[in-house]
Amino acid sequence: MKKTLEAILIGAGNRGMTVYGKFALNCPEKLNFIAVAEPISQRREKFAKLHSIPEERCFKSWEDIFLEGKIADIAFISTQDQLHVEPTIKALNLGYNVLLEKPMAHTLEGCVKIAQAAKNSENILGISHVLRYTNFFSTIYKAIKDGILGDVINITHRENVSYYHMAHSYVRGNWNNVAESSPMILAKCCHDLDLLYYMIGSKPKKISSFGSLKHFKEENAPNGAPEYCVEGCPIQEECVYYAPSIYIDINPIIQIMKNTGKRGLKFLANLRKNHISFLTLLSKIIPTFNRLRYWKEWPVEPLYSGRPEETSEDYSDNVKRRILTTSRYGKCVYKSNNDVVDHQLVMIEFENGTTANLTMHGFSEREGRTLRIDGTKATLRGEFYVHDGCEKISVINHLTGEKKILHSHEMQMDRSGHGGGDFQLIDAFINSVIERKKDRGLINALEILESHLMAFAAEESRLSNKVIDMDSFRNKTHRF
Ligand SMILES: NC(=O)c1ccc[n+]([C@@H]2O[C@H](COP(=O)([O-])OP(=O)(O)OC[C@H]3O[C@@H](n4cnc5c(N)ncnc54)[C@H](O)[C@@H]3O)[C@@H](O)[C@H]2O)c1
Repeated sequence: MKKTLEAILIGAGNRGMTVYGKFALNCPEKLNFIAVAEPISQRREKFAKLHSIPEERCFKSWEDIFLEGKIADIAFISTQDQLHVEPTIKALNLGYNVLLEKPMAHTLEGCVKIAQAAKNSENILGISHVLRYTNFFSTIYKAIKDGILGDVINITHRENVSYYHMAHSYVRGNWNNVAESSPMILAKCCHDLDLLYYMIGSKPKKISSFGSLKHFKEENAPNGAPEYCVEGCPIQEECVYYAPSIYIDINPIIQIMKNTGKRGLKFLANLRKNHISFLTLLSKIIPTFNRLRYWKEWPVEPLYSGRPEETSEDYSDNVKRRILTTSRYGKCVYKSNNDVVDHQLVMIEFENGTTANLTMHGFSEREGRTLRIDGTKATLRGEFYVHDGCEKISVINHLTGEKKILHSHEMQMDRSGHGGGDFQLIDAFINSVIERKKDRGLINALEILESHLMAFAAEESRLSNKVIDMDSFRNKTHRF
């Protein structure tokens, strides 16, 4: 029987609590958290309670937890992008195996430092490139490796960020400002660049990129729009970004439920949207309806980050509205101190001659990735809609004209996040720690670094209007 690994968590926010924490609760035979570092007391206490962590093993910051030395097998590091480098290097030096959230760091220098520390360490460093671990991308990878497509000539890949996710994370939220977080092509697309590198199996040779912040700017604000939506916006009825419609009426969640095409979910969506008084009554009689009536999961959860006690557990409409009067999530999307792009294209030529292009934009009706791979023998098309769980991969053979469905799911709402990739990655990481075996590039520091180099090179190209030669770009990293 395999042993249960012990772990510490640095950063009990969204990812720490709902991905790594949830995995341990679901699979206690595999993973057990024995300590946590988190400055926000409600989060720290909640995590400690869920995982039965004694008070003396609860710390306010990563520095404090490391004063204890090495006390577990794994350190999960899920702090914000700007706080990855120091805790990761410290954890590796102390002898921890580390699973670090992507992106490795928000600067090129930070990424290189982490890669160097991992290279010099005996221990395993994993980066949460969860999409490699989905059934969807594993199926595509296998189709390429099995030669079904012949020689891959070109990949066209799209990261279609939904309009509500764009507004929530990249206009109002934590990743809206380059200086405070990172370029969007790194924050959102290091996954996608990693997938291109992984699927093509060759290093990028040349990269160019275009893109800008076109829509979410003050000059596009409607006449009379206030700073905060709840202050009385003249276009609140027609603005899809009107904060109460996202966080109180949960219109994005209702749309996701409808998109699944499942009758039961469509019924619940209709109940939430059109019969709120009845749902309120129902939730008093049948508590399971509270979840739908008083929604507290994404995208609502970040609103409550660090709130005082009186509001921390109250998800009523009134309290949400009160929070929206001062929260960054209540701001007008045209006045949000944001400067990251809202659309960007990246063109890549790889060393083996394959070309690829990535389109990232924040105006999709539905959250998901779509791609097309053209090879000398066949064409593959894929759709990967993460929020409603619909996935499809088809391959058309050029010789026979035959279309084969390689993978198809109508809806899989019950899996872990990112199309099941979140938990499958943790599982793979745990196995590589137990077996001390390198797993599909998770732990090869230079492999992990490549997608991040691609993102920084794309950003440099976008800003300088130049094609980036990747050999010269890689050479730059020697100075760190
Ligand atoms: N793998 C993926 O697909 C994926 C998806 C979403 C986010 N992410 C990444 O995961 C990371 C965390 O994102 P999140 O949404 O969970 O953010 P979050 O803000 O919800 O969580 C970060 C937590 O770190 C805590 N923290 C701050 N300073 C700390 C310190 N000194 N010591 C310990 N903890 C500290 C914060 O209080 C917060 O609770 C980010 O790097 C993000 O880019 C990855």
